[in-house]
Amino acid sequence: MYKIINKRQLSESIFYMEVEAKRVADSCLPGQFVIVKTGKEGERIPLTICDYDRERGTVTIVFQAVGVSTIKMSRLEEGDGFTDFVGPLGRPSELCADINNAKGKKILFIAGGVGTAPVYPQVKFLKEAGIDADVIIGARNKELIILEDEMKKVAANVYVATDDGSYGFKGNVNDRLKDLKANGAEYDLVVAIGPIIMMKFVCLLTKELNIPTIVSMNPIMVDGTGMCGACRLLVGGKVQFACVDGPEFDGHLVDFDQAMKRAAIYKTEEGRAKLALLEGDTHHGGCGNCN
Ligand code: NAD
Ligand code: FES
Repeated sequence: MYKIINKRQLSESIFYMEVEAKRVADSCLPGQFVIVKTGKEGERIPLTICDYDRERGTVTIVFQAVGVSTIKMSRLEEGDGFTDFVGPLGRPSELCADINNAKGKKILFIAGGVGTAPVYPQVKFLKEAGIDADVIIGARNKELIILEDEMKKVAANVYVATDDGSYGFKGNVNDRLKDLKANGAEYDLVVAIGPIIMMKFVCLLTKELNIPTIVSMNPIMVDGTGMCGACRLLVGGKVQFACVDGPEFDGHLVDFDQAMKRAAIYKTEEGRAKLALLEGDTHHGGCGNCN
């Protein structure tokens, strides 16, 4: 069992858990994810790692209780545990896998809602490597802003924006970026992590501004193993699987509309059968043929 040693409720439906998982903590890097299960019959839930402590042998996850499995997870308390905590999975963030990718660059992270959690370890990793980055945290309202204090300890500047103006700048993350640009800010690279619709619109803006942009396609994953086919997406016209080839991709090459449409179709049995018919050999609907 993987014991929960620290639990915090960050907002009405967002939970933070530090879990004893020494083997994952020993080797994980920012950008990678774990698959957790609360019981032998439980659903597999892929979650991007929010933090890790190699000395304590712990990994921190942050999740939103939205479906049956995540609501069950949210009811676990300190001392309880997960039956499965598998990882690290996926490729590490390119910036952290090779710090030369980050050196000399002015980097802006754009974190939307719960997507703030996977942004945190990347900014922390860069800070420890002597590289300063700025962060925009966007949320619908003040109550949904998470990890602001933690982020302030590792980022050069943290810019908070709320859609309703209840805290910080009034507007979404793109409005905040436009405002920063209008005030003279320059960036060489943007990393955007949040809802797919946010990443789509951030990429439309950064394309206009000519700033290369990395996104994390974690939201379309289901089993996280390359078997179910749920996370199939087109990147530069090429078929990729978020859990095996990502989760991070060049956002200017991702076909977000296709990814969102496909994720909606995938939700029903009939939809999955239709995708198998349309996508043929590249469907991976449980065929196990991917690497
Ligand atoms: P949300 O819908 O409240 O949006 C958060 C912020 O994103 C908004 O406040 C706004 O600033 C920005 N945003 C949203 N839509 C936008 C648009 N069209 N244009 C510009 N900015 C926009 O976010 P939430 O409810 O916290 O997000 C939950 C989603 O985040 C889930 O779908 C989850 O799968 C996803 N998520 C993604 C990752 C990842 O790795 N990409 C990680 C965790 C969660
Ligand atoms: Fe199932 Fe990637 S999440 S194939």
